[in-house]
Amino acid sequence: MRTISFYVAFGMIASSLGSAHALDAVGEGRRAWLRFNCYGCHGGNGAGGMGPNIQHTEAGDVSSAMWGDAREGGMRSFAGTGATLQDASNIAKYLASIGTAREPKWLQWWVPVPHK
Ligand code: HEC
Repeated sequence: MRTISFYVAFGMIASSLGSAHALDAVGEGRRAWLRFNCYGCHGGNGAGGMGPNIQHTEAGDVSSAMWGDAREGGMRSFAGTGATLQDASNIAKYLASIGTAREPKWLQWWVPVPHK
């Protein structure tokens, strides 16, 4: 009996740590936003800092900012960082969620299920 509940508890912990927990696109965008340090220049919620306010920027503009050669004012290129077009698309969905009820505000991108 004790052994069974141990395995049940272990299974629950293991599944909450597993990578099976994909977030929705907005959550994955928040994760990429934090993981690639976009917030360091654009502020925690894209409202601007050393870089401009980019809330509600479309996916094409996010990817051209990340990989385009039209950058003039100090944004680094994300070529070679492992960032993908899917990340850019998710980041745009995150940026679109800002100011809405769906906006994620957690800071821990490294845990499978981030929370406040
Ligand atoms: C080192 C600071 C820095 C980091 C890190 C940074 N940015 Fe920027 N970003 C800037 C600056 C400065 C500008 C404005 C000038 C320019 O376009 O280079 C900018 C511009 C932009 C623009 C607007 C481009 C336009 O055409 O108006 C977008 C979108 C953007 N960044 C997205 C991102 C995303 C997404 C990340 C993370 C993957 C990120 N930035 C990381 C500094 C940064």
